[in-house]
Amino acid sequence: MIVTIVGAGAMARGVATIALAGGHTVRLVGRAQRNAESLAGELRQVAPDGDVSASDAIAVEDADLVVLAVPHPAGVELTASYGTALTGSVLVDISNPVGPDTLTVPPGTSAAELIAAEAAPGTPVVKAFNTVFAGTLLSGRVAGKPLDVLIAGDDEDGKGAVADLAEGGGLRPLDVGPLRRSRELEALQLLHMSVQDSLGLNWSSAVKILP
Ligand SMILES: NC(=O)c1ccc[n+]([C@@H]2O[C@H](COP(=O)([O-])OP(=O)(O)OC[C@H]3O[C@@H](n4cnc5c(N)ncnc54)[C@H](OP(=O)(O)O)[C@@H]3O)[C@@H](O)[C@H]2O)c1
Repeated sequence: MIVTIVGAGAMARGVATIALAGGHTVRLVGRAQRNAESLAGELRQVAPDGDVSASDAIAVEDADLVVLAVPHPAGVELTASYGTALTGSVLVDISNPVGPDTLTVPPGTSAAELIAAEAAPGTPVVKAFNTVFAGTLLSGRVAGKPLDVLIAGDDEDGKGAVADLAEGGGLRPLDVGPLRRSRELEALQLLHMSVQDSLGLNWSSAVKILP
């Protein structure tokens, strides 16, 4: 697949690492081109055989997956500005709309649903990767076990493509239901974030469902 990642920060690095491990083509679209180029160079050193490059915003046009690795609400704004350029791609929202100890989206919705409201027709939105911390994506494992990637969305093919991305990178995809489940995924990660200090976890923990 062609996986375009919008953003050049910690989660862009993590999701790109997973995508390259699965043999996908990765394009990085940075707000500042030099940041995307710098990250692409770093990733080429880690995955010398990987196909990764910095691109301009046009790279969203022929992508199979477009991953919004930017803070909320930038993802909502970018979705509106890309418009029909996203048609035919699966749009992946990984954001956690959190402020100090609270969600920053109104009750009864989620960042993912706000993005879906702006997405052009033919652009399924999938929520995924928001419950994994960026640093843990580099190895894909915590406590010797593969990370769980909880996936919510209303489009089965879209969720399947995101599951393939996760699985190809050695992670365990779990379909948790329709896009409205993003409300619970975002609240779950707020909880996960809020216990980092008290439990001394240092952002290296994982949310995992065990039998
Ligand atoms: N960090 C985590 O462990 C983690 C875990 C799960 C989910 N998330 C979510 O992943 C997303 C990215 O987080 P991150 O940790 O990767 O953040 P980050 O390291 O700060 O990177 C954010 C990236 O977004 C870009 N950006 C910021 N505002 C933008 C705008 N208005 N338009 C376009 N690009 C913009 C930044 O551009 P510049 O390079 O120009 O600053 C940067 O490349 C967030 O929604 C976050 O909630 C993070």
